[in-house]
Amino acid sequence: MSDELKAKVQSQFGASADSYATSSVHARGDSLAVLLNLVEPQPHWRALDVATGAGHTALLFAPRVSHVVASDLTEPMLAKAAELAAQRGLTNVETRKADAESLPFEDNSFDLVTCRLAFHHFPNPRQALAEFARVLKPGGLLGFTDNVTVPEKQAAGYYNAFEKLRDPSHNWVYPQVRLEAMFAEAGLVVEKSSQLLMKELEFHDWADRQHVSPENKEKLLEMMRHIPAALQPLFAPRWADGTLYFSLWEVVLVARLQQN
Ligand SMILES: C[S@@+](CC[C@H](N)C(=O)[O-])C[C@H]1O[C@@H](n2cnc3c(N)ncnc32)[C@H](O)[C@@H]1O
Repeated sequence: MSDELKAKVQSQFGASADSYATSSVHARGDSLAVLLNLVEPQPHWRALDVATGAGHTALLFAPRVSHVVASDLTEPMLAKAAELAAQRGLTNVETRKADAESLPFEDNSFDLVTCRLAFHHFPNPRQALAEFARVLKPGGLLGFTDNVTVPEKQAAGYYNAFEKLRDPSHNWVYPQVRLEAMFAEAGLVVEKSSQLLMKELEFHDWADRQHVSPENKEKLLEMMRHIPAALQPLFAPRWADGTLYFSLWEVVLVARLQQN
């Protein structure tokens, strides 16, 4: 299952590198500035951005730290990140192919690990967190953002089925409380968290970024017409101008690796 999902990640994202380079949610989403503010990067830091995509997080931190490794499973994404770094004249960004769940880096080698809008793709999220903790120096920081869902189990299942129909490489979006518990198991204690960040999306733009077929678009719209009550405040669907607008929730968490 793990390898199957990772192959889907590479095929889904390999075909989408250009759209992720320009996607407003990714290139200019509110979580970028919030993450930067909460992390407070230092000029001597060595940073690792896991699942960098088109590199938006790595490129934001690069001018504020000494060195950034931008890593991802999908090579066309890494090529896009390298292209954007060169366009911006950033010379301290290195790209490296890496699976978040088996990082090819030494223990205790980074002051900061960032991971934005990617954790929900990892089939073994606890393994990824253990890897983040392994490569962080004691006392180092994890700067994390991802979508979150509601704690009600059935509604969370419906939410994840909706996301998976749009993107077969989607694994699972968690409620914030579950994320924090998984972090703690890995020795990562949350020191700062943002408020919920609401992202407004237009249905076709969101679906087309993952090349959703017309048939699956219909199924997604049908699912949105029948969402459980617990998801009403999250998706907050609005039908206007012949299309659907809806929201997703994202949260930023900054956690410190405990020193034993
Ligand atoms: C939505 S994009 C990333 C967004 C990016 N972090 C940003 O801030 O714009 C998700 C990325 O996760 C990567 N990914 C998914 N599973 C991965 C894994 N197991 N290891 C490394 N990268 C992975 C995909 O290749 C894709 O580039």
